Amino acid sequence: MQRLNGFDDDNTMYIVINHIKTRYPLLKKHLPMKKLQNKTAIVTGAASGMGKAIAEIFAKEGANVIVADLKKNEIDDVVNNITKNGGKALGIVCNVSIESDIKNLIDACVSKFNALDILVNNAGIMDDFTPVDMVTNDLWNKVMSVNLNGPFYACRMAVPIMLKQQNGVIINIASIGGLYGSRAGLTYTASKHALIGLTKNIGFMYATKGIRCNAIAPGGVNTNIGKNIQANKFGQERCVSGGSNMPRMGEADEIAKTALFLACEDASFLNGSVITADGGWTAY
Ligand SMILES: NC(=O)c1ccc[n+]([C@@H]2O[C@H](COP(=O)([O-])OP(=O)(O)OC[C@H]3O[C@@H](n4cnc5c(N)ncnc54)[C@H](O)[C@@H]3O)[C@@H](O)[C@H]2O)c1
Repeated sequence: MQRLNGFDDDNTMYIVINHIKTRYPLLKKHLPMKKLQNKTAIVTGAASGMGKAIAEIFAKEGANVIVADLKKNEIDDVVNNITKNGGKALGIVCNVSIESDIKNLIDACVSKFNALDILVNNAGIMDDFTPVDMVTNDLWNKVMSVNLNGPFYACRMAVPIMLKQQNGVIINIASIGGLYGSRAGLTYTASKHALIGLTKNIGFMYATKGIRCNAIAPGGVNTNIGKNIQANKFGQERCVSGGSNMPRMGEADEIAKTALFLACEDASFLNGSVITADGGWTAY
């Protein structure tokens, strides 16, 4: 369908188009079709950074979006922003590392929208670049529970719903730290490598059942993730040694556009894949 050049990033235009569609239903077929019309998506970690950008672009493209995060006020801001721009969103406070929170999240999604078409496992935390000899059990368990257990719980509960629907898309936000050994500490690196394994297994396992599962491996992106880290000096020095090859930092909306591609039918033949979105850093 035709896109209106120059208006892609102008929410006002989308509000106007929605208004025209409501007032003049016969004009509907001549207006741009949204990529996620009538789809329902859960985005975790959606109060900040990439999750927020993904929630916003999905809503702009017609999806009902569940904005899930730890932070109530920031969730409300994202939901209000989406609704103000003519989209549909529901905010849910959820700690992805707690299985019962994930159950509440998925139950709320199905009870409100009667479907779960797209699951984006985006919530994630860093590990202060800690090398193995300094990793405490607490650090290991904390990072693993958010970066890996969370996506596991969510996939385990989402897949039966998607199997019933005979369609579904899962997108896991991994990292180039899930492909290489030198971008973070031990635990983050292990968690993102495992998330990529989880992605490939789910992708292959349900490939004939209408479910696609892919991952995005971002390079450095300007978000809040590094704001409060207390970097391990040795670990950070080792990791930044390759930083001079990074062409530039990315922006959250660049990852969101990649997620939109994976979520919609344009990516119908992508399954079990990892899209590296790093501006060319790992091509060096
Ligand atoms: N920013 C980068 O450079 C970069 C690079 C590669 C991968 N990533 C990955 O991208 C994802 C998004 O990170 P971001 O950079 O947008 O960070 P961010 O800190 O801006 O956003 C992460 C969000 O996740 C939420 N969150 C954290 N723990 C949670 C939990 N237990 N339950 C629910 N929500 C929780 C936070 O409250 C926050 O709103 C993460 O998985 C991260 O590992 C980030």
